[in-house]
Amino acid sequence: MELVVVSNRVSRGKANEPMTGGLAAALLPVVENSGAIWVGSSGRVREGAQKEPFAEIEALGAGALATLDLPSAHYGGYYEGFANSALWPAFHSRPDLIRASEQDYLSYREVNAFMARALVRFQRPNNVFWIQDYHFLSLGAELRKLGFGQPLGFFLHTPWPDRGVMSGVPHHRHLVEAMLAYDLIGFQTKEDCDNFLGYLSFHLGLDIEHGVVRSRHGATHVGVFPIGIDPDKFAQHAARSVSHPDVSRLRRSLNGEKLAIGVDRLDYSKGLVNRINAFDRMWQEYPALARSVSLLQIANLSRGGIEAYGNLQNELARLVSEVNGRHGEVDWTPIRYLNKGFSQTVLAGLYRTAQVGVVTPLHDGMNLVAKEYVAAQSAADPGVLVLSKFAGAANELDTALLVNPHDIDGMARTIAMAFAMPLTERRMRWEAMMARLRAGTIQQWFEGFVDALEKTRASQASEDVPPLSASNLHTLRWGKSGARAS
Ligand code: F6P
Repeated sequence: MELVVVSNRVSRGKANEPMTGGLAAALLPVVENSGAIWVGSSGRVREGAQKEPFAEIEALGAGALATLDLPSAHYGGYYEGFANSALWPAFHSRPDLIRASEQDYLSYREVNAFMARALVRFQRPNNVFWIQDYHFLSLGAELRKLGFGQPLGFFLHTPWPDRGVMSGVPHHRHLVEAMLAYDLIGFQTKEDCDNFLGYLSFHLGLDIEHGVVRSRHGATHVGVFPIGIDPDKFAQHAARSVSHPDVSRLRRSLNGEKLAIGVDRLDYSKGLVNRINAFDRMWQEYPALARSVSLLQIANLSRGGIEAYGNLQNELARLVSEVNGRHGEVDWTPIRYLNKGFSQTVLAGLYRTAQVGVVTPLHDGMNLVAKEYVAAQSAADPGVLVLSKFAGAANELDTALLVNPHDIDGMARTIAMAFAMPLTERRMRWEAMMARLRAGTIQQWFEGFVDALEKTRASQASEDVPPLSASNLHTLRWGKSGARAS
């Protein structure tokens, strides 16, 4: 079996370069070690590229990286249009931000069909294809049209919203029906999975039996596979990077002051405005914390061509400057606000320097920053994680200080409490979280999904019900599989 992993964004994994996006950073080490072929966008567009997809291939660890220039005529409609102005807002429960034209939808479908044609080059009888994320909901259906009979898996890194919100996406029925061409669909949380199954039953009138849906495409298995990190490797990075110039300069600049850190893409789903307002409220309500605690907020610019992101960028810049103007002193800046990215190694050192990690999205599939912050702490003197209860990570990291990101007063109180938490409590909470991280690593996620996907082939070949080993599956039952439409 050879594994082909497909995602819009890929990573070449230069250790000292900034990483964009949780998906690419998370997949890189496991793809490198597994020997898989990783196929994705080159980040460039090309005129006429829609006729003949051509992937450039380079070595990546034990496997290979294949990147394609996407067709210029459809790229905008696909990426900024349908993927990030219809699916992204809907999947993060912001239907008010959905803006997508008919042409955007057609471009999205075109790019999915283009990627399918590009994958013909990697079609071997024993290959297994694992498609990542909301950019490629209909890729599986396009592959089936081209005659792919191999196991096709799909994993959604974002949340899946409730059926009311999903019905705000133009062409939602066609898209979700197309998703059923996948043999296995994985979600981050049980809630996402339940929302998806609820949609299938309500909008498509499909019966679901023990996590298996039958449609004209055959059987689709649906399960929960929470993505993890490599906590021990991340801890090593953190310990090593204390001597990195960026990290040691940060330490020196603190003069005994305590630090909170936030690291996010600049996205409305991350709850950044509410977070800054909570710090503002905290310094108002607890004046003793002025000068003694500050915030380092790293906010990588993202999707700048989309109006909602441009507006947010302006709003945040204004807000940070108002808060700094209100609470700052000649020799003290409450919020250090940076619009730039850092390598994983430097980030690990920055996380370890901060006594409090603030991860307060309004809605997030998992949020790996929360997991990385925990893994980066020293066992002897760990920091405190303040985590939104609406991040997928809250299911596992339930000994973090969980907050409602809409409750500014509550967040202000909780952040103040985090700074004051005694060592014994910090240790207890941190040890419990580290145990959860070690019990669900990125390697286990990767192997668990691929293993379950391969079993879909076994269930197609035989009428026997194969034993189910992946413990994180959402009650799958393997039955007789219907024939695949080609
Ligand atoms: O949350 C899912 C995800 O794929 C993240 O990994 C990533 O941060 C984002 O969506 C995609 O970002 P971009 O548009 O920068 O590729």
